[in-house]
Amino acid sequence: EAREFLKFEPNEILKGKIIVTLFFENSTRTRSSFEIAAKRLGAEVVSLDVSTSSTSKGETIFDTVANINAMKPDAIIIRHSECGLPESLTGYVDCPIINAGDGKHAHPTQALLDLFTIYEHFEGQTEGKKIAIVGDVRNSRVAGSNRRLLPRFGIDVNLVAPDCFKYEGDEFKQFDTIQEIIDDMDIVMSLRSQLERHNITYFESLQEYAKDFCITSELMERKEFLLLHPGPVNRNIDITDEVLKHPRCKVLEQVTNGVAIRASILKKLILEDR
Ligand code: NCD
Repeated sequence: EAREFLKFEPNEILKGKIIVTLFFENSTRTRSSFEIAAKRLGAEVVSLDVSTSSTSKGETIFDTVANINAMKPDAIIIRHSECGLPESLTGYVDCPIINAGDGKHAHPTQALLDLFTIYEHFEGQTEGKKIAIVGDVRNSRVAGSNRRLLPRFGIDVNLVAPDCFKYEGDEFKQFDTIQEIIDDMDIVMSLRSQLERHNITYFESLQEYAKDFCITSELMERKEFLLLHPGPVNRNIDITDEVLKHPRCKVLEQVTNGVAIRASILKKLILEDR
């Protein structure tokens, strides 16, 4: 269905529906992606400005959401710094709650768009493909959701990080450097260091980190892998300027795919699953 929505043809699938967005953390891509997806399907979007909402007057998030729910929206999209919050709100509302990122925990629509990008590139042949997720795998919710989603499609997940960013579980193979596994990888997903979620300074500078973890032209030439990044990219820390222009770097294609995936999610949750 996402593939159909990639044609970006105008339609009225969600005409008359109202979708509320509640973003308590910063966002460029995810919020506009959801809004554009909703509008492409003919829905109306109400974005609550959380900086001026009553949560800043002492109202709990549960009460804020119960009040929004009392206005009978057709879906609520929420981003918040607290892990598990979107799920715990589901008992307070009658409409679907869509998680647009909850702290370090999960970012399910991002993982779905990543999977869609991989699926299209490999023409559905995801079984047995190997991915290296590189960077702050401990604090990235994008890594969290991809760790849960990609193995269901037969993709072998490998994590590459300095010790301070290593994942705390033991279900995945973990590596110290990208060089030691790159020759075996079909996909590399680079991640931003989640500086806002660290309470101590791990590196003298991000340039130090970049020496070992930045995706360079040398790596691109060594093996023909697909390069993904959820954005925002820290240029020359996560991926070099040159590599960002490389045809196998799919960062902007991921953004386009994100609108199509979110349109499918809105359609399914608002029209089919209730
Ligand atoms: C990510 C996020 O907010 O989780 N960005 C996104 O939604 N595309 C990744 C990040 O902030 O590094």
